[in-house]
Amino acid sequence: MKFLVINGVNLNLTGKREKSVYGTATLDEINAQIQAFCERNGDTVEFYQSNIEGELVNKLHEAYLQRTCDGIVLNAGAFTHYSYALRDAIAAMDIPVAETHMSNVHAREEFRKNSVLSEVCKGVVFGFGAGSYISAIVGLKSVVKK
Ligand code: DQA
Repeated sequence: MKFLVINGVNLNLTGKREKSVYGTATLDEINAQIQAFCERNGDTVEFYQSNIEGELVNKLHEAYLQRTCDGIVLNAGAFTHYSYALRDAIAAMDIPVAETHMSNVHAREEFRKNSVLSEVCKGVVFGFGAGSYISAIVGLKSVVKK
C-alpha cells in the first residue's frame, strides 16, 4: 500500500516548539520512524509539509486526481479547527483520510476540541505523540481495500 503523510501549519517546528506538548523529536525523525514502520510492512510512504492552506489543498487534489496513494494521514495543525477549505477538499475525495494529532486535543484549550475535519475523515487519532501517525497508518491499513 502507498501512504501519504501530510503535515500542516507549524508542524515543521516539531521538536523545537512547545517540547512539553509535542516532544523533542523533529519532524524528520518522526518521518523516519513512520518510514521504517511502513518498510517493515512492505508499504511505501510519501511525506509532505506546508504552512500554506492552499498548498495542502493542492496536495490533497493531486492525491485524488492522480491516485498517488491508498490512504492519507493528515495532521493539519491549527487548520484542523477552522479550515473549511481543507474540509471540502477531503469531502471531495474517495481516498480515506485519518485526521491525526500528536497531542491530546481534548485535554487542552477549548478551541482545540473542535475539528471541522473529523466529520469528513475516515477516523481520528490523537494523543500518542509520534505514535499517533503510526496508529493512523495501522487504522488506514485496516480499511483500505487491497
Ligand atoms: C496538533 C494540535 C493542534 O491543535 C495544533 O494547532 C497543532 C498540532 C497536534 O499534532 O497535536 O499545531 O495538530
